[in-house]
Amino acid sequence: MMRNIDERTITDAVLQSIASTPDARLKQVMTSLVTHLHDFVRDVRLTEAEWQAAIAFLTATGQKCSHTRQEFILLSDTLGVSMLTIALNHAKPAGATEATVFGPFHTADAPHVEPGADIARGAPGRPMFVHAVVQGPDGEPVANAEVEVWQADDEGLYDVQRPELGDTRRARAVLRTDARGAVRFRSIVPTAYPIPTDGPVGAMLAATGRHPWRPAHLHFMIRAAGWQSLTTHLFRDGDAYLDSDVVFGVRSSLIGDYVEHAPGIAPDGSVVETAFFTLEPVFVLASAR
Ligand code: BEZ
Ligand code: FE
Repeated sequence: MMRNIDERTITDAVLQSIASTPDARLKQVMTSLVTHLHDFVRDVRLTEAEWQAAIAFLTATGQKCSHTRQEFILLSDTLGVSMLTIALNHAKPAGATEATVFGPFHTADAPHVEPGADIARGAPGRPMFVHAVVQGPDGEPVANAEVEVWQADDEGLYDVQRPELGDTRRARAVLRTDARGAVRFRSIVPTAYPIPTDGPVGAMLAATGRHPWRPAHLHFMIRAAGWQSLTTHLFRDGDAYLDSDVVFGVRSSLIGDYVEHAPGIAPDGSVVETAFFTLEPVFVLASAR
């Protein structure tokens, strides 16, 4: 009966209305969503004012989105939904590098650069020289893999967070591994940064007494034919936020060895007049089969 619905019978009425959904997976997802959503509304005895606030919050979240800002990803990240989805979908074989959050600051137009390039392109920060190796579980090099890297600068900002840069991309790049599975590039040391708090997600963090900080990290996305793609980070050891990352993305296996050196000759043979860092990560991919 679709009449005289009350706070109990409404759930069955909605479930019946979607009972003939042709796509079995969609039916399963919608059934679970409606069931949990209704249980949640009954559980907290949602008021009409709260319902209105929720609609306003979600509307503002959508309105905050642009081609350089993804407030919905930020919401998913800060509620732990992104890491939960990753944990469910990336049970990696032993030894394979673990995945973590993608985040909202990836862009589709990172410059493709040659080996050894300075990908910072003027972004402020202390110099860092990276030599990364991509390999399979038995140590076999993965040649011709696409390695994309992106990061915040010394002021904790990504290029897309600096309106003065327009569409200029810096501190991000795409490289290809050589026959030894290696990529080399120069960049800057990443710093801890607060996620953007000038939108609804910032309001949610403040209202729940949370800080907005992420520990310093480099983002990597590695793709190679025959291998599972890997989206991950390398965190900096000793960072004050490793145990309270606002998006729950830290894994101990992803804490990198950022080594500080006195001024002198850098790995690329150049003379660096300030202290500089080196980082030599090894990424282990899982077979696509
Ligand atoms: C990031 O690391 O870029 C990031 C991830 C999740 C939320 C905000 C930023
Ligand atoms: Fe980041």
